[in-house]
Amino acid sequence: MMIPSQSISGDQFKSVMRRFAASVNVITSADGAVMNGMTATAVCSVSADPPSLLVIVNKSNRSHPVISRSGTFAVNVLSSDQEELAGHFAAKKPDPFADIDHRIGQTGCPLIRDADATLECAVVQETDFGTHTIFIGRIVTCAVASKSPLLYHEGRFCRLEDMALHYA
Ligand SMILES: Cc1cc2nc3c(=O)[nH]c(=O)nc-3n(C[C@H](O)[C@H](O)[C@H](O)COP(=O)(O)O)c2cc1C
Repeated sequence: MMIPSQSISGDQFKSVMRRFAASVNVITSADGAVMNGMTATAVCSVSADPPSLLVIVNKSNRSHPVISRSGTFAVNVLSSDQEELAGHFAAKKPDPFADIDHRIGQTGCPLIRDADATLECAVVQETDFGTHTIFIGRIVTCAVASKSPLLYHEGRFCRLEDMALHYA
């Protein structure tokens, strides 16, 4: 079979990727006194043995050197009532954790209170691809609150509760 050599445009890519419904997470990181958090949907399970996941981070994000230098990050899965935090951690605030209720985890990364779930990871592999880096992390701790998750679809935040009404 011939493998097509052409590719799609950036705009086509963006419009098709908007069709992926995703949970909304904040990837947190810390290096010495510097703590950061960035909103992210590019978070994916890798394997149960060893327990691992991956996150994909733009190289121009402030979080990138913090994760790379410290070798750790945490994934905070946002709850359906935490949309404000998703906006906050996408806005490059000067002191992102100043007014955010959090505790410090075993890895030194900040963990957001009342998140749906939190997972702390040690980076085991870092792979650059184009503008981004794929960080694979071995999961060292996790906690689940079993709330309802915040979702992102077609450029908008949404909730399972809304969908139940929509499809009723
Ligand atoms: C819903 C949503 C999902 C996002 N997902 C990602 C992602 O998976 N990877 C990424 O690098 N940036 C993602 N971003 C953009 C970052 O959150 C944004 O660039 C942020 O300002 C980076 O923060 P930092 O520079 O402090 O690290 C997303 C933004 C939004 C609103």
